Amino acid sequence: MPFNIEQLRREFPALQQEVNKRPLIYLDNAATTQKPKAVIERILQYYSRENSNIHRAAHYLSQQATEAYEEARKTVQMFLNAAFSHEIIFTRGTTEAINLVAHSYSKKFLKAGDEIIITAMEHHSNIVPWQMACENHGAVLKIIPMDDKGVLDMDAYKKMLNSKTRMVAVTHVSNALGTINPVKEIIDLAHEKDIPVLIDGAQALSHMKVDVQKLNCDFYCFSGHKIYGPMGVGVLYGKEDWLNQLPPFLGGGEMIKEVTFEKTTYNELPFKFEAGTPNVGDVLGMEAAIRFLSYLRYDEIAIHENELLVYATQRLSELDNVRFIGTAPQKTSVISFVFTDIHPYDTGTILDKLGIAVRTGHHCAQPVMDYFGVPGTVRVSFGVYNSKQEIDKLIEGLLTVREMFG
Ligand code: ALA
Repeated sequence: MPFNIEQLRREFPALQQEVNKRPLIYLDNAATTQKPKAVIERILQYYSRENSNIHRAAHYLSQQATEAYEEARKTVQMFLNAAFSHEIIFTRGTTEAINLVAHSYSKKFLKAGDEIIITAMEHHSNIVPWQMACENHGAVLKIIPMDDKGVLDMDAYKKMLNSKTRMVAVTHVSNALGTINPVKEIIDLAHEKDIPVLIDGAQALSHMKVDVQKLNCDFYCFSGHKIYGPMGVGVLYGKEDWLNQLPPFLGGGEMIKEVTFEKTTYNELPFKFEAGTPNVGDVLGMEAAIRFLSYLRYDEIAIHENELLVYATQRLSELDNVRFIGTAPQKTSVISFVFTDIHPYDTGTILDKLGIAVRTGHHCAQPVMDYFGVPGTVRVSFGVYNSKQEIDKLIEGLLTVREMFG
């Protein structure tokens, strides 16, 4: 059944407001999605009735909160189809998840002269942690190039894999270009040489079903706030075997078995990687977001968002002096573009005055901007609640921008 957009939009309080005296048109979903009532109410309920520190007390509230938190872990396990719930580590988000793996993996396995492979279209969060790891251990960062459409050069990748490669870390979907990468093929090729693969899924899970066992990735990371859940919470999925081999990332309470001043032994999975009091309220909010996505169904989401992508691309291409940045055949509902004669910031500012929220700038992917020779782009990114009428308003807004600056 196709979405009932009006009904769906009523679930999102933030969409009911005016910005600059116009109804808000929110087209910045790749940066963060708005939250449905189910998520907001779940967090409210937690802090109103259930708030308690978990795993550490005999009292009622603590037991309830512990149970809810561990149930949420099982919900994430099912969401990703992980083999075990202890393969799900709660983090502050994708960035922390990648830093955890980059730090712990490199501490144990990376030596001088080793190589880590990433791609030319990574977000800074899947570049900098690996750069830091390489600096610390004398390893070398290798970059899979892309073409002018924003498609990875798989032949170059195949040639790059060798006996010095220790890790391949790749984004599932590019935040700046929308490209969906062939991650299954990337993983299979790396595994032929026994090289583990980490997938940055921050931009994927709001748009598509991910099955980590089918993908056979070794690590998969995502953030709650990009899938209609709260900020400050996310997930690292890791295969049990890898997570058992990695040393802890942060030290503190909960991640220990026994502590003496001489020596500490570490807790088992998943607690070994969850030092300190976790963000229980937001984990429960993220669980509500996952339930919300399941209720919407990914096949319906894909149909709706693809219609928006095709329609918006068509309407934008009718405007003067538009240059699309990222035209891969496999894309999510993200469109980056520039007017060749107008600065992206000017475009974004005028659209904002019209109540239209888009993102302008380098989108935390400066190497992508360098590759395309632009300082930044205007990025329009759609979520489940966007409509063709909103795209028409966007085009009207862009015509105004052209009249003023073009
Ligand atoms: N990573 C976020 C984006 O793409 C902030 O906008």
